[in-house]
Amino acid sequence: MERIDKVLSNLGHGTRKEVKGLLKKGKVEIDGIIASDSAMKIDPDKAVIKVSGEEIKYRKHIYLIMNKPAGVVSATVDNHDETVIDLLDEQYHSFKPFPIGRLDKDTVGLLLITNDGELNHKLIAPKNHVDKVYYAEINKFIDEKDISTFKNGVVIDDGYKCMPAILEVLSANENGSEVMVTIQEGKFHQVKRMFESVNKKVVFLRRISFGPLKLDESLSEGQYRELTEEEINSLKQV
Ligand code: URA
Repeated sequence: MERIDKVLSNLGHGTRKEVKGLLKKGKVEIDGIIASDSAMKIDPDKAVIKVSGEEIKYRKHIYLIMNKPAGVVSATVDNHDETVIDLLDEQYHSFKPFPIGRLDKDTVGLLLITNDGELNHKLIAPKNHVDKVYYAEINKFIDEKDISTFKNGVVIDDGYKCMPAILEVLSANENGSEVMVTIQEGKFHQVKRMFESVNKKVVFLRRISFGPLKLDESLSEGQYRELTEEEINSLKQV
């Protein structure tokens, strides 16, 4: 059981004080009866809640998929840059969402955003071997040796030996290469550092899948949508 003012505030209907005002004005209905006491306790999973005559869908967690644009940081707050959370509609802010893992400021593509801490832990734990696939443009020719180095585990600048990664070449010539890289970890700047270890530079990076989810073609950079029930379940089964 939870206090009605807390439930409504968490669902984005204003501060606790503002919600109190709504209750006083008789705008809130619980199971068909006007509620005016902000200390009233309800079971938010069962109660039929209406605000100004409109039924409110109760939920604890939100799950969003974003096609992250370049130039924004994967953080909840930042003193200098716009964050991926700043891109979200006001209605999501009261859920206190955060990104699952991070993409660099200049990286684009699939970013999951939620307030489900348990799912976050599960998806970022390296022991769970969640595949992350990136499309990358590299400044040099990628050869067979690079492919086998990635397969055997690249040793990056701090001496860490990465888990085996799949490097697939889409095109390669003297001016550069287009590749797909599949990794199961998410260390800071991981893909860029892996290529630096073989003396190459990532010039463009886009994440195209995360576990069972693929980047939604219908989302242009900066756009996002809620995950479907089916997509949420597929993540929870990872
Ligand atoms: N690896 C990187 O180097 N950067 C990212 O944003 C994601 C993976």
